Amino acid sequence: MNEPRRVERQQTDKGYVPVYTTAIVEQPWDSYRDEDHATWGQLYQRQRELLVGRACDEFLQAQDAMGMSPDKIPRFDELNVVLGKTTGWQLIGVEGLLPELDFFDHLANRRFPVTWWIRRPDQIDYIEEPDLFHDLFGHVPLLMNPLFADYMEAYGKGGVKAHAIDPEALVHLTRLYWYTVEFGLINTPGGLRIYGAGIVSSKGESLYSLESDSPNRLGFDLQRVMRTRYRIDTFQKTYFVIDGFQQLIDATAPDFTPLYQQLQQQDAIAAGDVRADDRVYHRGTGEGWLNDGDV
Ligand code: PHE
Ligand code: FE
Repeated sequence: MNEPRRVERQQTDKGYVPVYTTAIVEQPWDSYRDEDHATWGQLYQRQRELLVGRACDEFLQAQDAMGMSPDKIPRFDELNVVLGKTTGWQLIGVEGLLPELDFFDHLANRRFPVTWWIRRPDQIDYIEEPDLFHDLFGHVPLLMNPLFADYMEAYGKGGVKAHAIDPEALVHLTRLYWYTVEFGLINTPGGLRIYGAGIVSSKGESLYSLESDSPNRLGFDLQRVMRTRYRIDTFQKTYFVIDGFQQLIDATAPDFTPLYQQLQQQDAIAAGDVRADDRVYHRGTGEGWLNDGDV
C-alpha cells in the first residue's frame, strides 16, 4: 500500500497548500473565511437537493438530527455533543489521511478523523483527496445510526488485527471499506438508495451510481467484494447493494483470519466483471469505461 501522507494545510493566496506534519488538531473554526463557509453552504445545498430520494433515509434524517445546515461549517465540538449522546462516537480533527494503523485505532475506539480544511471554490465538483466536506457531510451522519456505528468500530478493530497479519490482508479489508463505507448502495422498499460517503459527497457519482446504465449493481457478498479491484480516478464500474445495515454486521461478525488465508489463494476480480453467481440488480453496459487503472 502507499505510504500515507501526513499533511497540514496552510492558507495562502493559492488556497490551502500542504505542509508535512503528523499533527492531530483542534478544528480551527475561527480561521474559516466567508469563502470557506460559502463553499460548504453551496455544496451542502446542492447535495441535499440531489439526495432526497437518492440517499437512504437514515443518512438524511441523521444530518438533520445533528443540526448540520448550509449556513456555516459545523463545529466538531457541537456535533460531538449529539454524537456522544446518540452512539458514543466522537470526531477528531486531522490534517488529512492518517497512517493506516492510526486510522484503524481511532475507529476501534469510536473516534472518527475528520479533515478540518475545505476545498477551494474551483474544486467544488472534484477534489482528489478527502476534505472537510467529504468527511463531515459524507461520513459523519451514519455514525448516528446504531448499526452503522457498530460496523465502523468493528471495522477498526478488524483493521488493527489485519495490520498485524500481513499486507495482503489489508488489501482485502480495504476493498470492503471501499465498496461499503465509501461506495455502498442499499436496497429499500422505495428502491436502491445511496449510503456510501464517496457517493453522497459527489454530485456526478450520486447521479451515476443510481441512474446510469454503465455500472454494474450487484448484491453484496463479502468474499466477492473482498476480491474485487476498484477505481480511484473514475466513477466505480461496480456498486454492491446491501439489504440493510444488519447485513454488514452479520457478514463481518466471523473471525476473518481463515478468510484472509482463503482469499490469498484466489485471483482478484476486475472492477467491472460480472460473474455467474452474482446477484445482478443491473448489468452495466460498460459505456465510457477506461480499460486499465483498476487498483
Ligand atoms: N470480524 C472481522 C475480523 O475478525 C473484523 C471486521 C469487522 C472486519 C467488521 C470488517 C468489518 O477480522
Ligand atoms: Fe472517505
